[in-house]
Amino acid sequence: MSATQNLTWWKNVAIYQVYPRSFADGNGDGIGDLPGLIARLDYLKTLGVGALWLSPVYPSPMCDAGYDICDYTDIDPLFGRLADLDQLISEAHKRGLKLLMDFVPNHTSDQHPWFIESRASRDNPKRDWYLWRDQPNNWRASIDGGSAWTWDEGSQQYYLHFFLPQQPDLNWHNPEVVEAMHNVLKFWLDRGVDGFRIDVVHCVGKDPTFADDPRCMAGETMVQINDQPYSHEVLRGLRRLVDHYPGDRVLIGEVNIRSTARVAAYYGASDELHMSFNFPPLDAPWDPVVFRLCIREVERCLGEQSAWPTWALSNHDNSRIRSRYGGSLARTNAAAVMLLSLRGTPFIFQGDELALEDTQVNAQTRVDPGGRDGSRAPLPWLAQTPHGWSGTAPWLPFPPEAEALAVETQESASDSTLNLYRRLLHCRRESTALRLGDWQELPSHPQLLAYRRHCEDDERIVCINFDAAEHAFVLTGEWIVEVASDRHGEDQPFAGLVAAHQALILRQKGSAHEC
Ligand code: NOJ
Ligand code: CA
Repeated sequence: MSATQNLTWWKNVAIYQVYPRSFADGNGDGIGDLPGLIARLDYLKTLGVGALWLSPVYPSPMCDAGYDICDYTDIDPLFGRLADLDQLISEAHKRGLKLLMDFVPNHTSDQHPWFIESRASRDNPKRDWYLWRDQPNNWRASIDGGSAWTWDEGSQQYYLHFFLPQQPDLNWHNPEVVEAMHNVLKFWLDRGVDGFRIDVVHCVGKDPTFADDPRCMAGETMVQINDQPYSHEVLRGLRRLVDHYPGDRVLIGEVNIRSTARVAAYYGASDELHMSFNFPPLDAPWDPVVFRLCIREVERCLGEQSAWPTWALSNHDNSRIRSRYGGSLARTNAAAVMLLSLRGTPFIFQGDELALEDTQVNAQTRVDPGGRDGSRAPLPWLAQTPHGWSGTAPWLPFPPEAEALAVETQESASDSTLNLYRRLLHCRRESTALRLGDWQELPSHPQLLAYRRHCEDDERIVCINFDAAEHAFVLTGEWIVEVASDRHGEDQPFAGLVAAHQALILRQKGSAHEC
């Protein structure tokens, strides 16, 4: 594989998920916003990521933290104004950072003017923009786990919603909906955004028979199981639109189906998604057997150059990496080495580079009806309370150990998780093998996961020890420790042992490709 064939920017960068409410506050009201984010762009540049994915900032009643949108082409005053978004695009671009918006095609808010019209009467011209039925079926919704149908007293029919009742699903079979949503994409593409993360894109097509699904009887929700051919047609339309724009705009889909093979289908014949999330690794416990299987499955299903993998170990819907891996800092750091050295584009959820744990909420501080507040807590910037969030207390409590894990504290500690991420991202940028090279599993002790990344004359070996005991890892030739998750022995010869919970990136002694 020639590196020169792979100049596409989105294969070469790590993408950082900004959850704007909790990133940085520009006006002291306790809620993160666009001016706050703009003021911290240099932090992201120094971290070494190449693109930002911005979770929704559109006007919204915030029943689902902005994933319930009532205007697709404006900014909620909580986050700023359209002019702030324009400034964010230009300030990001000045620093060589790409900006991706969150596109939510499956549903709007029930306060969106389209739905207000649609529910006004059965003969309203927008009635068919949503999915109305006289009788519900057994489909189950996510977040509250209740029925996916809500009775509308005014117009005497049920409407469909795969999420909260305040998030009615759009009818993508209606060409006017398709056109309106294409116009939304054009609006942002014309303003210069570099692409979109597309929310639950596998949900836009629905089973046209609306038959009961036996899996809902077993407790599954439609979001986990919906997988209809029509979603692919919708995607091909979005891809055609995006491909008309210059500059490699990208579509990254959230395909929330727990099967890598099914996820792979959403790349189409290079005419659907450019990349898709793949959640089995995010669900996996910190276990070498499970990760080995997940990675082999990705290599099997997404091995073609046209289907480029992604790697995400957390996001705003799940517990943080450190909380899921038992609170261990050593495991969290080892996971960072794995995340940033697999073949594909890695996603870093804000605050994971600080090894934050989930925040604790109680009946008074709880916000999300789906119980997902833990990973959504504000980032501690400064050591001292209120950690760079001037004025009122932020909208959620800070995560545990906010002083010790604050950006300010970690910047000056050479062995901090923040500095480990900076080092890893630097090495990725410097090494074609780490960014674009092929992936080959290496024989090792069963508690180790070892692989080789290789591109032309550049090569790295990665070894992750999942065990609480040290293990030998035998290699021929002489190797240098380029990155160690605990920062021990970097730039020293590799002595053939991997410490408990340690992960290493090795380069061959004398290699021209040092970083
Ligand atoms: C997936 C998003 O990540 C999640 O936060 C949201 O609740 C649902 N989609 C509905 O938009
Ligand atoms: Ca604010």
